[in-house]
Amino acid sequence: MIQKILRTASLQRRLLLGLIVPLLLIMPAIAMIQYWLIVTPAKLEIDRQLGDDAIAVSGFIHAKGNHVEFSINPQAKSLLLTDQSDREFFLVTDPEGRVLGGDPSLLDPRVQLAAGEWRYLDHQVDGHWLRMLIYGITCGPGICQVRIGETWVKRHRIKDEALFATAAFSLFFGVMTMVVMILAVQSGLRKISELSEDMARQSPERLSVLDDKKVPSELQPMIHSWNLLLERLHVAHQTQKNFIADVAHQIRTPLTSLQMEVELLLLEPSPPALREKFENINRSANRITHLAAQLLSLARVENNMNSAMRWLPVDLRDVAIRTLEEWSPRALSVGIDLGFELQSAPIVGQQFLLIEGLANVIHNAFLYAGPGCVVTVRSQHSGSECVLSVEDNGPGIPFEERARVCQRFYRGAISSGEGSGLGLAIVSDIVRLHRGQLRIEDAPSGRGVVFILSFPCAESPDASVHHV
Ligand SMILES: Nc1ncnc2c1ncn2[C@@H]1O[C@H](COP(=O)(O)OP(=O)(O)OP(=O)(O)O)[C@@H](O)[C@H]1O
Ligand SMILES: [Mg+2]
Repeated sequence: MIQKILRTASLQRRLLLGLIVPLLLIMPAIAMIQYWLIVTPAKLEIDRQLGDDAIAVSGFIHAKGNHVEFSINPQAKSLLLTDQSDREFFLVTDPEGRVLGGDPSLLDPRVQLAAGEWRYLDHQVDGHWLRMLIYGITCGPGICQVRIGETWVKRHRIKDEALFATAAFSLFFGVMTMVVMILAVQSGLRKISELSEDMARQSPERLSVLDDKKVPSELQPMIHSWNLLLERLHVAHQTQKNFIADVAHQIRTPLTSLQMEVELLLLEPSPPALREKFENINRSANRITHLAAQLLSLARVENNMNSAMRWLPVDLRDVAIRTLEEWSPRALSVGIDLGFELQSAPIVGQQFLLIEGLANVIHNAFLYAGPGCVVTVRSQHSGSECVLSVEDNGPGIPFEERARVCQRFYRGAISSGEGSGLGLAIVSDIVRLHRGQLRIEDAPSGRGVVFILSFPCAESPDASVHHV
């Protein structure tokens, strides 16, 4: 379970878990060592003071031959045994263990000491714990004992203060360390997220190698392999596109001659059954010729996407006029009312590609709106947006289908048998190449559809960026 969580957790979470969990485990040990380092010397110092008191008290023991006596005046006694926090007691015994002076409650425990020997112990007297020092001193024929007992108030206070200091330090240290760890991990991983953003920006049309100098050395082999893969992909993609363009180009000549032959045959008198077959062949040849033309057109746009295109000032009004010159005679012949409202709309780009894009949209309007309909072509300049639009009053495109009509080879329910489903894909590539947008909306009149190709105008800052 934990392994599964770790496997799927983000790298950041794994690193943080790997750092913070051991830190949390080590922190109590560090705190205990720190506590011990504060308390132990302080306790030793207090014990040493007991020792000083014992030596001072022993100075009041006097031995005359075998006779040992102890006398201390009250001033010396209070001077020796007065402490701000604790109560101190003393006891002096002769070599036989008889009390010479002080507090007899300190008589227990009985211990044997050599001369000059110290012994510290914790002992309970009348229900109170005392820190006790027993000191052996030569007096007359034997060894007298001086006992100093002290309550635990100072010791408790030192422990409390040490505990507080340790807890406060551990908290501060722990929190600061975690913050530093999180910041360090985040900054270390930022390179990875920048890298994944660079990778996400790649598209089959625009594969650019990643700069392995900008990444940490651990990631450089991965970037190197990625770049090699990109190069192979690029070559494969290019080969595939060239192949399609070559095939389209190669089949155009035999197709044209096939079409001519069939058209010539159709001019000759022939039996009705044979004539129907010729017409079928003619229709199929037309479709394949159209498909080859569309594939070539797509290859042309894609080539411009990959190579550095020459960007020139283009007026969308000129694009519309040039396209309409070709389409007006056709409109007359198929009974379509082709109108235009043209305004100057300067952009930067490639005129022949824009004409190709507009022609595809007008062709669709002719085809799908059908004879007798009204098609209006507009070029407009509003703010920083320059627009080419084609409106028709045909059946329109259902809202849910609009996202799909720009996909390659997608053909809607109303499409006739002629098309290849590439027209709007070509248009959307051309628009994208010019940093524009293709929008499909309901015609304002309520019937039909309007295709809006909008581009940044030549003077707007967006237009000066010449790469897709
Ligand atoms: N003006 C329009 N009115 C209604 N439907 C349209 C219109 N323009 C496009 N469509 C729908 O969008 C589909 C995709 O159009 P697109 O131009 O990409 O392909 P096509 O016209 O079928 O084939 P091609 O353009 O390659 O000859 C069409 O099949 C059609 O269903
Ligand atoms: Mg089309």
